[in-house]
Amino acid sequence: MFVRRIAVIGTGYVGLTTGACLASLGHRVVCADVDAAKLERLDRGEVDILEPRLAELVAEGRAAGRLSFVRGAAAAVRSPEFAAEVVFLCLPTPMGVGGVADLSIVEQVLREIRPLLQPDAVVVNKSTVPVGTAVRTAELLDRDDVTVVSNPEFLREGSAVQDFLAPDRIVVGCDQQDAAERVAALYARLGAPTVLTDAASAELVKYAANCFLAMKLSYVNAMAELCERLGADISDVTEGMGYDRRIGQSFLQPGPGWGGSCLPKDTQAMLQVADGADFEFRLLRATIDTNTRQRQRIVDKVRVAVTGKRDGSLSRSRIGVLGLTFKSGTNDLRDSPALAVAALLRQAGAELIGYDPVLSTDGADGADLAGVSMVDDPYLAAKDTDALVLLTEWPEFRSLDWARLAEAAREPVVVDTRNLLDAEAARRGGFEWIGLGRPVAA
Ligand code: UGA
Repeated sequence: MFVRRIAVIGTGYVGLTTGACLASLGHRVVCADVDAAKLERLDRGEVDILEPRLAELVAEGRAAGRLSFVRGAAAAVRSPEFAAEVVFLCLPTPMGVGGVADLSIVEQVLREIRPLLQPDAVVVNKSTVPVGTAVRTAELLDRDDVTVVSNPEFLREGSAVQDFLAPDRIVVGCDQQDAAERVAALYARLGAPTVLTDAASAELVKYAANCFLAMKLSYVNAMAELCERLGADISDVTEGMGYDRRIGQSFLQPGPGWGGSCLPKDTQAMLQVADGADFEFRLLRATIDTNTRQRQRIVDKVRVAVTGKRDGSLSRSRIGVLGLTFKSGTNDLRDSPALAVAALLRQAGAELIGYDPVLSTDGADGADLAGVSMVDDPYLAAKDTDALVLLTEWPEFRSLDWARLAEAAREPVVVDTRNLLDAEAARRGGFEWIGLGRPVAA
């Protein structure tokens, strides 16, 4: 295998995972960021992101002298002892005006590194970027001797290292075959199926995959609602569907709606791209609308749990919220459906007490998180509540002591939006359990 000199610009989720994993494959990697405090922490081996094995790989890479951290893109691309052959751009592409991805940070970095890139360098877009960005990047670089390659990432938070080192596929897009092959060769040791294609297709794969995943979930959430109306059980329906290999068992779990830093942003961006191409992507619009509606649907379920009526009032009710991160296994709150549901409950007049196993209140019980008064103990979150609502699928919620919760609560009823809990155990503890897409008495 060729060992390459690699610069990774941006040490966020994608950048840090990419840098640490490429170093673990034997490459020499310099990671850059503009956040000096974060770099100091990384230099001490401290990783802020809650991600299995990441801190370990960072430590191993540093100890082996294959991974280092510097301030600023320029220093990563060229220094007296290092000239990068491959430069990975792992930069934020936030949702800009009208849902279009904002590329200003990418553009600023390109201006900075342009004069420093060694001849024959390859610049790799790893961030999710609109179709056409590779072309735009090449224009901004304006260097005939440098090639731009699109190589989207497919990492899930909470299993990013695993997803990087055992990927379902590698996608590399470039109109120049040799540059594409050079990037694909970085991953050769992983033995993953590799799709070599043009830049626009590679850029589109990422959006197409994320929008499809979002569609799958909206479909399941809609199906769960239908199950409730028909007296069917969504768990059995999805299990039965999932044995069809064309569908698969994964990503079929109903919930409070999909969120996080990727699916909401990418579905909106795709919609804009489609609009721009004069294509009315109705299926995608329905996917997004179904997701927005799902949050309101959870609020309605809480309303029924508390008042017995779909139009009952939640004002002066007190609701305990279990879980606020956008999914379990992460401390990320970005676009968390739990926060969205909490905001709607607040609007409806409820008082909210929250507990999340990874969100510490630093001893200050009652610390406010977007209108939710946070406590460090799930039993405190149940105190005097009219209902509990479980919004994030933290496995430890399964071992809660329901009898103890029932003693703390005013009304022992729990709305389990992830169908996570052992309904029988909750009932034995005196709780009424309300799931999603389950027959009422199940
Ligand atoms: C997602 C994709 O899964 C990755 O493949 C992609 O690389 C990444 O976005 C990205 O674009 O960077 P991630 O945002 O980490 O990964 O989160 P997911 O695990 O996909 O979960 C997204 C949302 O769907 C969460 O709110 C989660 O709770 C929800 N979900 C997921 C369900 O409600 N049910 C499921 O069965 C699975």
